[in-house]
Amino acid sequence: MEKLVIEGGRPLQGTARIEGAKNAALPILAASLLADGKVNIENVPDLLDIHVMLDILRALGARASYSGMSAAVDASTVRSSEIPEALMNKMRSSIFLMGPLLARFGEVTVYQPGGCAIGERKIDLHLRGLQALGATITESGNRIECRAAKLKGADVLLDFPSVGATENIMMAAVTAEGITTISNAAREPEIWDLQQFLNKMGSKIIGAGTDTITIEGVKKLSPCVHKIIPDRIVTGTLMVAAAATKGNITLEGVVPGHLTSVIHVLRRAGVQIAIDDDIMNVSGAGRPRAVERIVTSPYPSFPTDLQAQMMVLLSLADGLSVMKETVFEGRYKHVHELCAMGADIRMDGNSALIRGVPRLYGASVEATDLRAGAALVIAGLAAKGRTVIDQIHHIDRGYESIENTFNSLGGQIERTVTLSQDRIAL
Ligand code: UD1
Repeated sequence: MEKLVIEGGRPLQGTARIEGAKNAALPILAASLLADGKVNIENVPDLLDIHVMLDILRALGARASYSGMSAAVDASTVRSSEIPEALMNKMRSSIFLMGPLLARFGEVTVYQPGGCAIGERKIDLHLRGLQALGATITESGNRIECRAAKLKGADVLLDFPSVGATENIMMAAVTAEGITTISNAAREPEIWDLQQFLNKMGSKIIGAGTDTITIEGVKKLSPCVHKIIPDRIVTGTLMVAAAATKGNITLEGVVPGHLTSVIHVLRRAGVQIAIDDDIMNVSGAGRPRAVERIVTSPYPSFPTDLQAQMMVLLSLADGLSVMKETVFEGRYKHVHELCAMGADIRMDGNSALIRGVPRLYGASVEATDLRAGAALVIAGLAAKGRTVIDQIHHIDRGYESIENTFNSLGGQIERTVTLSQDRIAL
């Protein structure tokens, strides 16, 4: 079992380059199923979730390889439209394969993705969107079969701007007959990146980045080369870490426009941020200020994926801050762990009341999900003493060797491997 052991108390210093966005790469890899030939995708982060997606593509019959931050997928050999249940359970994002498989084969079989540590994550909006395009859906147990002899363009209104549902419907609609309009679409930059990729392959999509996306169906898509956008959540994680450790770091390859709400909140907390094109300098001298109220909601508001990390900074701030989570219920498992490190956080419904303390202290804690794990790494870097984080496979889903990133900025993190008792007995 692997753990991260962090010796805290060192201000982060230096320069880091931002990796490609996991949440853009996953749907784009799924969309490569739509092309008739080999697609090359660059700036793909070397992450557990990415390798699971490549495994699923291979299990479907595609040729998929990964080296030097690039993925190549040739889906012309795909013959199956059923995603194996075991792989589906490994990653919720396998749901993205529904749209492209349905578009290509006129049928797809998936399994309800397993439970999730950050609360219930339904797929009703995905299914209703595909139904609007003409798919018939049969559910038996956790098996879901979708069929459509020919998908037809339609007007789809999402009850909530779900990122995944927007992407799935876009991918299903690209070769549908006629025009599809998605209203109340999610506006995340990763959706814009998917539009860029699909249009390079020959799709006709406009509007990604706004709440209305229009897709004019085309007959056929061809292979292309595409470079994934930088990861705004990794960028935000490093920005918060610099501030929490009272460090001074420079981040390269950033798209500051994707982080407007984050920059705004960090500046309110007293963090100094200087921007020069795609380079950002973040410096956190002095104690952070409390931020009266932060509400997570869909882009361009403050991202739920940075809620846990921001809470670490607010735990160290001077005064009382309030964080309200509106995207996922139950996304507060890190609160218990942060309190074990000395934070003073009380829950009130879906709001966390954070009374800043002068210092956090090292402790043994557990990463309960991806972003909660990243928050604990930041807390460990800022804390006095040693922090040991267990269950770090969650962190590896979304951060490329997080210990190397932080160690290159002057942090002190070691990945340790403990053999289980059974293996020792052998
Ligand atoms: C994506 C991101 C994830 C991020 C989230 C919100 C990827 C791979 N993951 O996840 O990191 O935290 O956006 O920014 O891009 N919902 C329904 N029915 C549905 C779909 C969603 O009720 O059919 C609800 C969910 O339960 C949740 C909310 O909508 O409460 C947001 O989910 P959604 O935007 O779909 O998130 P994901 O695409 O799963």
